[in-house]
Amino acid sequence: METDILPVSPENLGRITFKPTADDLVDEWHIEWANDAVDVQNLQRAAYELATTNNPVGFPTETVYGLGADATKGEAVRAIFQAKGRPADNPLIVHFSSIKQLRGLLKGRRSTEESDNGVQAEEGEEQDPIPEIYKPLIRKFWPGPLTIILPNPEDSLLAPEVTAGLNTFGARMPRSILALALIDMAGCPLAAPSANASTRPSPTAAEHVKDDLNGRIHTIIDGGPCNVGVESTVVDGLSSPPAILRPGGVTMEQLRQCPGWENVVVGYKDKPEHGIRPRAPGMKYRHYSPKAMVVLYETGATLPSPTETFEQIKERKSVGIIRTKTWPKALGLAINEHIDGQANGNEIAEKSNSISNPINTTEPSNSLAAPSNLLLSITQHQVPHAHHYALSDSGIPHAIDVWDIDLGAQADGVARGLFSALRELDKKGVDMIFVEGVDDREGGDIAAAVMNRLRKAAEVRI
Ligand code: TXA
Ligand code: MG
Repeated sequence: METDILPVSPENLGRITFKPTADDLVDEWHIEWANDAVDVQNLQRAAYELATTNNPVGFPTETVYGLGADATKGEAVRAIFQAKGRPADNPLIVHFSSIKQLRGLLKGRRSTEESDNGVQAEEGEEQDPIPEIYKPLIRKFWPGPLTIILPNPEDSLLAPEVTAGLNTFGARMPRSILALALIDMAGCPLAAPSANASTRPSPTAAEHVKDDLNGRIHTIIDGGPCNVGVESTVVDGLSSPPAILRPGGVTMEQLRQCPGWENVVVGYKDKPEHGIRPRAPGMKYRHYSPKAMVVLYETGATLPSPTETFEQIKERKSVGIIRTKTWPKALGLAINEHIDGQANGNEIAEKSNSISNPINTTEPSNSLAAPSNLLLSITQHQVPHAHHYALSDSGIPHAIDVWDIDLGAQADGVARGLFSALRELDKKGVDMIFVEGVDDREGGDIAAAVMNRLRKAAEVRI
C-alpha cells in the first residue's frame, strides 16, 4: 500500500466567517471554499476517503496528529486499532466539528429516527444532553486541547469499538481549522487516537506519521507541525469531585478557574501502580517511548559531572541529550578536564555549526480577521535540531557520537518540541538519552503534561 502525504495549508482554504450561537457555547463557523485551491481538493480527497471507505486517515490537530475514522462505523474503527497495533481495551477520543453534532450523538439513535419521521420535540421540552458541569469548560476551552468524558447513550450511534466496553466516551472539538473542516466535510464525528504506532511518541508532524505508519494507511494530511505538541487534557466531570485523567494542553490552574472545577483532583499517576487500574485506560500502557533508553533527571537533581557522564556512556556508541533550562551544551563534556584519570585524553569536536535555538515560533497570523481561537495558519516552528559531537578519549577504542538538542527554558517550547526530539534522536540511532526535566511543581503551565510523558518514557529517573 502506498502512503500519500497531501499538503493542506489552512490559509488557502477560503474565507471563514463566525456566528455566535444562541446558547453561547461555541461560535458556529462557515467556510466559503476556495474551490480551485489544491489545498481544498486535497482536503476533499481525504474527507471522501473517510466517508466512503474504511481506511483511516492521518490528520493534524493543534495537539498532535490523529488517525481518524468514522466513529459510527465498526469496521473503520477497527482499522485504526489495526494500523497502530493498539490494544483493543484502550478507548478512542471522538472529535466533533460543532456542538450540534455532539448533541445529536448524545441523544442516541432514537432521536435520529424521530427527526427522520418528522417527529420534533417541542422547543424547551427536552433537556440539553450536555451535562451542565461541562458548559463552563466548553465555553472557555473549545475548540481546543480538552477532552471531556460524557455518558454514552444506550442506543448510541458510536461503534462499540470506540469506547472499549465503557459506558462513557471522550469528546473533543479541536482548534485546528483543518481538523474541523475535515470532520465537517466527512460528515461524521471522527474517532481518532494519536497517529503513532502503539508505544511510540505521538506524532507532531506529518513525516512522523509516515515514519510509523508507512504502508499501513493510504493518506496523511500534512498541515505542518503541531502548535501544542502534547495531547489534550482529559477530564471527568461525571465523578465527584471532578478529575483530570490525563494532563495536557489545558492546565489544572486554568481548569480551577471554571465554576464547578475549583476542586478538580489529579486522577492519574505518572507511573502505573501495581494493582491499581487507571481511570483513563490508555494511561496504563508503555507510551511515548523512543527505542533508546531514557534517563530522566528531575528538576533539582544534580547535573551529572562530565566524569560521571563519561563513565555512563563509555560503553555506548551513540548517546543523545535533551536539555531545557540549565544544562550546558553536551553536558559540559567539551570542558577540557580530566576524565577517567586521563589528563589530555578527552576532546569533543563539534561537527555542525547549526542554529543554537532551534525552536523558533511565530504566532499564528489572523490574516482572515477571524476570532483568534481557531488555528488558521501553519506555525512556522521547525523540528528540533540535533547538534553532533564526536567524543574521543584514550580510555575508549572508538569515538562516541553525542547528539545534543536544546529545547529552551520555556515549558510550552519544551512541550512543542519534546516528541519530535525523542524521534529525532531515535533516527540518529542513539542507544541512550539523557533528559533534563522541567519544574512541574507550580502547576501553572504545561510542565505537568511534559513531565507526565517523560516519566512514562523514562527507564531511569534521577
Ligand atoms: O490531543 C489528543 O487528545 C489527541 C488528538 C489526536 O486529538 N488524541 C489522543 O488520543 O491523544 P489517544 O487515543 O492517544 O488518547 C486517548 C486517551 C487515552 O488515555 C484513553 O484511555 C482516554 O483518552 N480515554 C478515551 N476514552 C475514555 C473514557 N471513556 N474514559 C476514560 N478515558 C478515556
Ligand atoms: Mg496516544
